[in-house]
Amino acid sequence: MSVHIFEVGGSLMGNSVTSMVLVTTAFLLGVGYAFKVLFRQAQSADKDAKLPPVIPSSIPFLGHAIAFGKSPIEFLEDAYEKYGPVFSFTMVGKTFTYLLGSDAAALLFNSKNEELNAEDVYSRLTTPVFGKGVAYDIPNPVFLEQKKMLKTGLNIAHFKQHVQIIEEETKEYFARWGDSGERNLFEALSELIILTASHCLHGKEIRSMLDEKVAQLYADLDGGFTHAAWLLPGWLPLPSFRRRDRAHREIKNIFFKVIQKRRESPQEEDDILQTLIDATYKDGRPLSNNEIAGMLIGLLLAGQHTSSTTSAWMGFFLARDKAVQERCLAEQKAVCGEALPPLDYDQLKDLTLLDRCLKETLRLRPPIMTMMRMAKSPQTAAGYTIPAGHQVCVSPTVNHRLQDTWMERMEFKPDRYLHENPAAGEKFAYVPFGAGRHRCIGENFAYVQIKTIWSTLLRLYDFELVNGYFPTVNYTTMIHTPNRPIIRYKRRQH
Ligand code: HEM
Repeated sequence: MSVHIFEVGGSLMGNSVTSMVLVTTAFLLGVGYAFKVLFRQAQSADKDAKLPPVIPSSIPFLGHAIAFGKSPIEFLEDAYEKYGPVFSFTMVGKTFTYLLGSDAAALLFNSKNEELNAEDVYSRLTTPVFGKGVAYDIPNPVFLEQKKMLKTGLNIAHFKQHVQIIEEETKEYFARWGDSGERNLFEALSELIILTASHCLHGKEIRSMLDEKVAQLYADLDGGFTHAAWLLPGWLPLPSFRRRDRAHREIKNIFFKVIQKRRESPQEEDDILQTLIDATYKDGRPLSNNEIAGMLIGLLLAGQHTSSTTSAWMGFFLARDKAVQERCLAEQKAVCGEALPPLDYDQLKDLTLLDRCLKETLRLRPPIMTMMRMAKSPQTAAGYTIPAGHQVCVSPTVNHRLQDTWMERMEFKPDRYLHENPAAGEKFAYVPFGAGRHRCIGENFAYVQIKTIWSTLLRLYDFELVNGYFPTVNYTTMIHTPNRPIIRYKRRQH
């Protein structure tokens, strides 16, 4: 349920109302920041502590925001070359310390939440969207209990139902694509994934209400994940804040009715919603309607951008590498039979080449490019002492392509995982789903969802790039999406 909040530089000056407020706030915060820096320097009593190297900046307050916003991965890779695995820099009045490479990243993944805290950095954004009583609004031990309940619902028996649901939704959605053409793959997959995720994770009642109005509510709610929401006080009367809050209330009301009806129904369903209704905390307390509704919103949004972006990138990798695309189809015929009958979960598991393609897509384009924590006390990494107050970050994107770790690091090579130790045996070299106490619980569902969608699409169409164009990366969006994501497709004749 984490969020990526670094597109500060490029789109900081998006709409005019927001810009004015941002500029004023930036000025005020800038003055405050200058005092804070002076105060901290005066206060830094522990003279023996070796602080991480600092990337110097002469721009007050904004610091490196523009350079980082323009090209974050290049920025971090350059800094790694120059300063090593641990370094600090400032942006918008905050100090960020990155831990790059497997060894340095271990600090973030192995730390206790009291030492490197997630709520402090994520809650401002997530609480208005998911609501109170869930995720980063509550003490982490309680969230861990909620994650356990969600994980109970994300089980194999449910995945078996999901494969069928996702295959049918995919066929129905793509019926509008006709026999051949050029279309926006990312847009299509984003729309499809709301439908499949809502059906699988929320249940058939909520899916059946998903019309254009509800889709707009999700879009407004999702519009809460912005720079403005991160930088500005929540009480400001910004239109996007108001739309987000109204959407939150309306969606919750829809969910409350469905949850209440389920509670009163004599018939027990077998799905994730039912798992949550039946779940209890360690002390025996059941989840309230408000907690369940918040968890349903979280389930949907945590998987929405991550899975739709990943599926879109996977499509472009397969379209570029026609040999692998054909091998994936041949694998389906070998596993499921030449007639390609409807997919089932066990066969999906045996599609190991498709699995490796997804794994490799997540290596080269992990949707969450940074995980972040607030240092509550001084922390040690690579011989440096990171002071309290720093935002401590790990970037899967950088770890997934470090020169010291990966051979042919920028190549899409799904078969690299057939060899032992594709990442030089380093523990945190490959972390698209994070690790430790904040690790993703949605990995297995994401694999089921994306593999089912791509199995279905490869049966329907042959894909290729349009005039050889492979999308560049859009760094201005929260999650690094493909630029101009148009793909060419042609119906297959089996
Ligand atoms: C390709 C798909 C996905 C990717 C790449 C992904 C990635 C991640 C990452 C990197 C984290 C760790 C964040 C951190 O440590 O700060 C995370 C946490 C989490 N994800 Fe996912 N995710 C995906 C899909 C999903 C789905 C489908 C769900 C729900 C069904 C989900 C639910 C969660 C939850 C509940 C957490 C825990 C957050 C915490 O404990 O702080 N994710 N995910």
